[in-house]
Amino acid sequence: MTEISEELVAEYRENGFVRVPGILTAAEVERFREGAAAYLVQHRHESLEKGGVFSQLVNVWQHDETGRDLTLHPKVARVAEQLSGVPVRVWHDQLLVKEPHNNAATEFHQDRPYWPHTNDRHSLSAWIALVDVPPERGCMTFLPGSQHQTTLQPQNLHDEDDLFQLDPSLRWIPRVTVPLRAGDCTFHNSYTGHMALPNRTDIARIAHVTIYMDAATHFNGNPHPVTDPLNLTPNQPLNSDSFPQPAQPPLSSL
Ligand code: SIN
Ligand code: NI
Repeated sequence: MTEISEELVAEYRENGFVRVPGILTAAEVERFREGAAAYLVQHRHESLEKGGVFSQLVNVWQHDETGRDLTLHPKVARVAEQLSGVPVRVWHDQLLVKEPHNNAATEFHQDRPYWPHTNDRHSLSAWIALVDVPPERGCMTFLPGSQHQTTLQPQNLHDEDDLFQLDPSLRWIPRVTVPLRAGDCTFHNSYTGHMALPNRTDIARIAHVTIYMDAATHFNGNPHPVTDPLNLTPNQPLNSDSFPQPAQPPLSSL
């Protein structure tokens, strides 16, 4: 893959999400999937989500070398910077595993309203499929253009109607469901409304999500599981080693 095309950047800016096929090689997929599966066995009990939608393990990169290599993956970060148009840091990562037949959707929400950020120009997530994720295994669905709605309070991802009650106009946007092969990813703007379908298959849905923020982001003082242990003061820049800037490879090597 060379530098991503202007068309891809334009598509991202218009819709608030984009699919990037084959961001990982087959060998990387195998290594990162095996690493994620092993990490899950050890850490499933630490899941932040207790509602049965998925296992959500946060900041894998701080505890696991293989997970760190994926979260700090230079190519993924490079694409994130090109799409966002600003220098980025890792805000956090999430290993999101939907067990076979979990029977629960991740309901429509935006990500940004949950976060204790201020002074940020952009934030976005790379949702990387480590197994094939067709719709019936729980792929993502997006509301194109919804990234322009930046004023809503946090939404309940267990309530299918919450986002649409907060902004009824979003209900009428045609929804785009994006199946991914292992090694593909989507990038979505942190204000883009999205949901993930239930896993109705016999195979676990394993996704690794790397969440990037504008490198100039400050802490706004609100509680959040990632920042609570750090004893930050309001308006402090989120620029410590807890929020690394992935190395940027020369464009020719992408
Ligand atoms: C999911 O994969 O189930 C949800 C991911 C997200 O909300 O970003
Ligand atoms: Ni989300």
